[in-house]
Amino acid sequence: MYRVSAALLLTGVGVFAAPTFNKDVLPIVQKHCQECHRPGEIAPFSLLTYTDARPWARAIKSAIVTEKMPPWFADARVGHFANDRRLSAAEIATLTAWVDAGAPEGDKKDAPPPRTFQDGWNIKPDMIIEMPKDFHVAATGTINYQNILVNAHFDEDKWVVAAEMRPGNAKVVHHMRAIVRPPDSAWMRSAVPGEAYEEGSEAMAGAKEGTDLLGKYNPGLGAQTFDIDGSAKFVPKGSDIVFNIHYTSVGTPETDRSKVGLVFAKNPPKQRYWMSPGTPAAFNLAIPAGDSNAEVVSEVTVGVDTVKLVYIQPHLHLRGKDYEVRLLYPTGESETVFKGKWNFDWQIGYQLAKPIPLPKGTRIRTIAHYDNSANNKYNPDPTKTILWGDQNWDEMQSGFIGLVIDMKTDVTQVFKASGPSLLPRGKFGPTLAAVESK
Ligand code: HEC
Repeated sequence: MYRVSAALLLTGVGVFAAPTFNKDVLPIVQKHCQECHRPGEIAPFSLLTYTDARPWARAIKSAIVTEKMPPWFADARVGHFANDRRLSAAEIATLTAWVDAGAPEGDKKDAPPPRTFQDGWNIKPDMIIEMPKDFHVAATGTINYQNILVNAHFDEDKWVVAAEMRPGNAKVVHHMRAIVRPPDSAWMRSAVPGEAYEEGSEAMAGAKEGTDLLGKYNPGLGAQTFDIDGSAKFVPKGSDIVFNIHYTSVGTPETDRSKVGLVFAKNPPKQRYWMSPGTPAAFNLAIPAGDSNAEVVSEVTVGVDTVKLVYIQPHLHLRGKDYEVRLLYPTGESETVFKGKWNFDWQIGYQLAKPIPLPKGTRIRTIAHYDNSANNKYNPDPTKTILWGDQNWDEMQSGFIGLVIDMKTDVTQVFKASGPSLLPRGKFGPTLAAVESK
């Protein structure tokens, strides 16, 4: 402290002055924290104002130096991501110095203008599609995935550059997806709009031709952007939206009415953004009871030309530990493009800073590890061999892979399951060793 004031006297300028909230901290908090730390969002307290932030000063320091906040799980040594949430070393130093100096407010005149949010949205939606009625969530018990067809009234072909799904009741919405159902799709043809249907029911029947994932929600994911070098998501005229929602009961009866907001392209797009609906995937996985480091590998092969990889969102359940994406090129070369820890509470998507071209024939191989031992505090039952399934106590090994493709590409040909994903289910795996020995 003494040395700082001496330096101040000597230089006569405020270069060593302690950072203040208004001048130094607020700009960082606006950029990195307010997305979640504001009323109505998922974080437990607000960081909009000095009064909000002051009581949390010590907790902020410890959360940022331990890298618990902002939530981000990609291995820093692999890849660069446009939506990287991490603070820079300089930002961490500023926040830490502010806390150490007693968290001063500073002059209000130094504060940047407040970051604005339109009715709670992180995007400025041109169209909002909401479930027409409440879904009633029972106080207890398992709730299977619900599918709710909502008439969307797209009166012309639309191109979407950003989407955000917002839960009506964040306590009970575990995660959800907004799926485009084109007018010619047979899927859910007999469903009554607004009614909820479970997987396997008669109203769910029909081929899912042409369907696409428009938006997703889960804690920490945020809004999704589809404008990568002029790309957008395609919604054919006359499409409806299917809300596919995983609710969890919380001990009291609750209701939910969720919605999705869309931003439309201002200009006709040059390329199409397409999201694989949950592949590559290991539907054949087996995770032995008690295994603390079970490996499961899955794979798809790119079946068309002019595909670029732009987004990776791993999806595992409660036993997941980590996830890696390797590209095996037709030339024989290979490259790891993503590696990250898995955290069930934070299902984050990673937007590549630079799209990666995937020549036809490239294999996308994903490698995940699981802790099915009693040491995993999230493990619902370490005594069972675990197979693929929807519920959290089952497992998944899949990824939502975002691609930019040519406008004319037939999306049914983009990915074909290959390698480990085609093996019959064994007692464990499929593992990398099993695939590489072939
Ligand atoms: C993507 C959403 C999100 C972002 C971005 C985010 N937080 Fe959080 N934060 C949360 C949630 C949710 C919790 C409560 C759950 C938890 O502790 O994991 C939380 C908890 C915290 C806590 C309490 C930690 C504890 O141990 O109790 C602190 C402090 C905190 N955040 C600070 C920050 C700061 C500072 C930033 C920005 C530099 C930030 N957060 C960015 C969502 C977020």
